[in-house]
Amino acid sequence: MRSRPPGAPRRLAIRPQDSALVGQVSDEVIAKWREIGIAAAADRFQRHQTDPTMPDAIASRSCLAIVLAAGEGTRMRSSLPKVLHPIAGRSMVEHVLAAVMEAGAGRIAVVVGPDREDVAEAVRKVAPEAEIFVQRERLGTAHAALAARDALARQPVDDVIVAFADTPLVDVAAFSALRAPLAEGAGIVALGFEAADPHGYGRLIMERDRLIAIREEKDASDEERRIRLCNAGLMAFAGAHALSLMVSVGNENAKGEYYLTDAVGIAAGRDLPTRVVRAPEALVQGVNDRVQLAAAEQAMQRRLRERAMREGATLIDPDTVYLSFDTQLGRDVVVEPNVFFAPGVTVGEGAVIHAFSHLEGAKVGPRAEIGPFARLRPGAELGRKAKVGNFVEVKKSVLGEGAKVNHLTYIGDAEVGAGANIGAGTITCNYDGFGKHRTMIGEGAFIGSNSSLVAPVSIGAGAYVGSGSVVTKDVPADALALARGRQTVIKDWAVGFREKNAKK
Ligand code: UD1
Ligand code: CA
Repeated sequence: MRSRPPGAPRRLAIRPQDSALVGQVSDEVIAKWREIGIAAAADRFQRHQTDPTMPDAIASRSCLAIVLAAGEGTRMRSSLPKVLHPIAGRSMVEHVLAAVMEAGAGRIAVVVGPDREDVAEAVRKVAPEAEIFVQRERLGTAHAALAARDALARQPVDDVIVAFADTPLVDVAAFSALRAPLAEGAGIVALGFEAADPHGYGRLIMERDRLIAIREEKDASDEERRIRLCNAGLMAFAGAHALSLMVSVGNENAKGEYYLTDAVGIAAGRDLPTRVVRAPEALVQGVNDRVQLAAAEQAMQRRLRERAMREGATLIDPDTVYLSFDTQLGRDVVVEPNVFFAPGVTVGEGAVIHAFSHLEGAKVGPRAEIGPFARLRPGAELGRKAKVGNFVEVKKSVLGEGAKVNHLTYIGDAEVGAGANIGAGTITCNYDGFGKHRTMIGEGAFIGSNSSLVAPVSIGAGAYVGSGSVVTKDVPADALALARGRQTVIKDWAVGFREKNAKK
């Protein structure tokens, strides 16, 4: 294990002469990555530090990733750019950026279409350090990659990877596999897969074991079209040759576009070693329309569910549980069927999420119990063994250890002390049409059913609120508050009422 003085910046295991390329990653940056949900990238950087089994052949090489995101996405028929469509709660471009960061790309260039401030903003969210380039005209993938020419030309770099933002399922393993042959001297590496239906893909043209060209469908001969080994789109280039290969690409083809894939034939013509790395189709499927978007979502869900189960959560019917890219389920968590996890949810060990619950931006403590039919909205924080039952909504509120909100209740902008019991039908009235106000409920307080707590208001520890109260003033600790009409009983009233009506 390599050691590091406490507080010193973490650094990729890089050659000293490359340090300017990869830069240093401070503890703050790593903390930020965790915060924005790319914990895996943070872990990766830390492993590079300390894990001697990490392939140094890759870890020691500097890497520039160029992510192409300038496509129009016409077939999505959407006012949202294609690469911003979400999969498992995060846009496609963010997925791809997280994967290239995890794969150790110390520099990232993203190519976006003109006037795509929205795409740029998504990029900055996960990769604040990425350089953003605009491709003014959409003249093909090589033309797009060359929009990032400045990034390529500015500093020498060992590896260049080009990724498509509309291929969101690629993972760190795919990028590492692509980079590995570069460390062995390859000039260009393509990612290939056996397509069930090769229609529309570029075909890898092999001469014995050697990749000599990639032919786009529209330019392929009948014989070439019969080839099932297809181009996934991701490519890796030896940094020393990347720019010269890309600028040599012409546009004499059926679409009149500058194809990045032509760089393979050019490299082969220059006797640069070319290589193919194979990937399963499920990893490289692209998204061009909403049908493929749904297919990619399914594939991602399968991956996330499997990971959750392997990490020790029970999903009784995994196909009905929807997870987000950053959902964290502790060991022995049980998730019943039909539960939806929007982004930002952490569930502690041994908690149970009953059927038909919806959670977003919430922290659930160990052995807490949620649902059935519960809704946790952003800022809900449940302590250990807290209970949130059926038809209960909790927003921006903290529930202490063992607090119970079992039925038909809205808790918003509140703090509920440990062991407090909130009766059925309680509402925190937190909104007056202009501002939001807080409700404080002390430890062990007991709120009778069907009470309205009109915020700002506080209920002291151990206090009782009588059922049906509308509480507008603070209640001291251990007091009883009754705020409802007094009951009147009129003896035999019903007898007279019936007689009067019978005579009519
Ligand atoms: C591309 C590959 C093909 C491969 C397929 C895999 C080329 C020439 N072809 O074809 O071999 O089998 O992907 O899915 O590379 N883009 C830009 N600017 C442009 C053109 C494209 O940014 O001017 C971006 C798109 O947003 C997209 C990516 O590049 O993210 C790929 O472009 P697309 O037009 O979808 O290529 P395919 O025809 O799918
Ligand atoms: Ca495509």
